[in-house]
Amino acid sequence: KSAPAPESAGGGERFSQSGFIFAAIGSAVGLGNMWKFPYITGKYGGAAFFLMFIVCLLAVGLPVLMAELTIGRGGRGSVSTSFNRLTKKKGWGTLGFLMVLAPFLILSFYAVIAGWTLYYAVQSFSGNLFSNSDYSATFGSFIGSWQPVWWMLLALVLTAFVIIKGVSSGIEKFNKILIPGLVILLVALVIRALTLKGAGDGVSFFLEPDFSKLTAQSALIALGHAFFSLSLGMGTMITYGAYVDKRQSLGVGTMAIGLGDLLYALLAGLIIFPTSFAFGIEPGQGPGLVFVALPAAFAAMPFGSLFGGLFFVLLAFAALTSTVGLLEVPVAFVRERFGWSRGKSVIIITLLIFIIGIPSAVSVGGAVDISFGHKTFFDWMDFICSYILLPVGGLIVTIFVGWIWRDAAKEAGVKSSWLYVWLFMVRYIAPILVLLVLLHSTGALDF
Ligand code: PHE
Repeated sequence: KSAPAPESAGGGERFSQSGFIFAAIGSAVGLGNMWKFPYITGKYGGAAFFLMFIVCLLAVGLPVLMAELTIGRGGRGSVSTSFNRLTKKKGWGTLGFLMVLAPFLILSFYAVIAGWTLYYAVQSFSGNLFSNSDYSATFGSFIGSWQPVWWMLLALVLTAFVIIKGVSSGIEKFNKILIPGLVILLVALVIRALTLKGAGDGVSFFLEPDFSKLTAQSALIALGHAFFSLSLGMGTMITYGAYVDKRQSLGVGTMAIGLGDLLYALLAGLIIFPTSFAFGIEPGQGPGLVFVALPAAFAAMPFGSLFGGLFFVLLAFAALTSTVGLLEVPVAFVRERFGWSRGKSVIIITLLIFIIGIPSAVSVGGAVDISFGHKTFFDWMDFICSYILLPVGGLIVTIFVGWIWRDAAKEAGVKSSWLYVWLFMVRYIAPILVLLVLLHSTGALDF
């Protein structure tokens, strides 16, 4: 029988109802939506891929998101403690620890890209970005230097400032300002993008599906990305769940987070595809899309340095609301495990992440050659986190809620037929599909 968590657990810190929604949307909306989503959509089939992503997000992502929030609120602790409180079965605390390791590692390379966006924001507003029109060379020489190490440090320090202030005056306040701010900036940029000459082709590419472009591989990529985009499998939503008020409806929260995440992906697509098509930029060109192609487009627009600056600030904000969600996971863990203060935990964890991040920051652009078997250190970190630890985390959550923790449905508070839909997805469909993603990404399953 599981022991209910004391209400004071986790230091008794709580989000307000709206604060929780903003914080969770903030975690979900990040580089995943604004940087990765456009280039993988460009690569894996445009609108057909987007549609697949929506289906995966709604049908599989949301049930798993709900499962994570439920574990957090039921266990009221850091990831590992929450598992231990909810079952007497051995080993779950250790599995939970794996889910603490994942955000710790992911932050070490995610902060590198967050640093790039900070650099680009500053360079764009100052006009420096547009002083040389070879954007690929500008990008290459920046990421090929040691500069990204310091910009990564800046991203980590900003994140640490928010986390040190705690749940309600740090995470919640930060997101309550940035998330609505982001929508305003995004809408302004969407209007700018849609009124460009030739924008229509970009809109059709993004929104008119051509189903012949769908393959099993693109479907698995869409599912993996739905997980990444909703911040699943990384302990973030479990950790945030621990700060949710008992009276808050997790079902409504889950829907709001899912729709919020989708809305930001839609808006990002409505900026990037029309702009790329209007300026003849290939949307499937990969990770450089946002950093190489868009500056060229901004330079060719009236008020380009303003719009460009706004865009990169937006990207930086989106990244920081996610790094905040990542850092809170290991911080909550060490506070609980070692009894350290919030301040001490934040400083030690941030320093460790900075040290681990250095090889990522210098290897990605080739400043220092650190590679094993055709992958740079950065690529390995991304691969291990996004393609192995993330699906493994997803499996842990679905098996735990679907099969191990008997009172999950009670804590989730879902009623009537929705309960059966939720349990069915969490028990059968989600673990099978996540397993397929894992097998595919490790190369065990090829097609
Ligand atoms: N969801 C974030 C994004 O789309 C990334 C993230 C993953 C954040 C896992 C926290 C935890 O960029």
